Amino acid sequence: ALIGKGQHRHFMIKEIYEQPQVIGDTLNTMLNPASRTITLPDLPFDLASVKRVTIVACGTSYYAGSVAKYWIEKLGRVPVEVEIASEFRYRQPVLVPGDMAVFISQSGETADTLAALRYCRDAGLHTVALVNVAESTIAREATTALLTQAGPEIGVASTKAFTTQLVVLACLAMGMARANNRLDAAEEARLSQALAEVPARIAEMLRGEDNIRQIAEDVAQARDVLYLGRGPCYPIALEGALKLKEVSYIHAEGYAAGELKHGPIALIDDHVPVVVLCPSDDLYDKTASNVQEVIARGAKVIFISDAEGLSKLAVKPMASFQMPPVDPFVAPILYAVPVQVLAYHVALARGTDVDQPRNLAKSVTVE
Ligand code: G6P
Repeated sequence: ALIGKGQHRHFMIKEIYEQPQVIGDTLNTMLNPASRTITLPDLPFDLASVKRVTIVACGTSYYAGSVAKYWIEKLGRVPVEVEIASEFRYRQPVLVPGDMAVFISQSGETADTLAALRYCRDAGLHTVALVNVAESTIAREATTALLTQAGPEIGVASTKAFTTQLVVLACLAMGMARANNRLDAAEEARLSQALAEVPARIAEMLRGEDNIRQIAEDVAQARDVLYLGRGPCYPIALEGALKLKEVSYIHAEGYAAGELKHGPIALIDDHVPVVVLCPSDDLYDKTASNVQEVIARGAKVIFISDAEGLSKLAVKPMASFQMPPVDPFVAPILYAVPVQVLAYHVALARGTDVDQPRNLAKSVTVE
């Protein structure tokens, strides 16, 4: 079937707005809202027997894996390695038969990710594909395929595929925690509830699109942009920077907020916007103090937080964007969306080809 843009100007923004729907669809495959429990698809091995998880992917999918590391290690207490497929496949990694390797790919056709999958399969690992295309090569070749229900993603810059990947990975982390007796029923119910509310919270957040459009006017003048985050929002900062580079061609870098002092702070002046992802969680105070440091050096901070986080900030950022309050567990899913919208509006202001950025391919099927 021919897929249209509907009321939207571009596929990218259409797909951003589809997120409440497709996240809901993805959750429906794993989350029982009545019992507030998770049901993972049947795996041909016991999750409790997994001593180590290796996650391999490229591009945006790699950042989804990077968030999963925080979740799986925190909840499941199982060590996780996340690696870029093109590095992994050539570095002779130490692999232990019986461990679990997860390959994340929207298309299911990325050449390096597929090669890494074959490498792990030959080494005797359990291979789990997390893909958006059920009949893709990566899905077919893996022992088990987990599916995102994002529907066809046409915009070259990934949006809805990313957040649906996060949702599946959050469920996988919960499943591993439960298998390891580290998730009691009350905690499972609490986290399930937080996940179930994500679609509504994203819809709420998107009602602020116009505020982000205004912020984008400023960002569009910049030559360089920094994105900062901590904990599971650190990979979201990396993804935010990637989104901006991809669609607006502005140089951007994501940094762990605590790493600021070790280099990037030298870049700060009043020409460099600094986008800060700072949900109210146990790391809020740390990131907020980094924000004070950069504002003291003249940085134009764009502070993204919830009402509580915005009101607690002792200094005044150049701009702020208010997020709905959410359980810190799901914050990375939610905070992925404003950085998508920001990249989109900066690209519009710059007049770039949003859906087909120069030099990029939707799926990189040759090395
Ligand atoms: C390309 C796309 C990216 C995507 C990456 C991995 O670079 O432009 O948006 O994140 O490939 O693709 P995959 O289909 O494996 O997730």
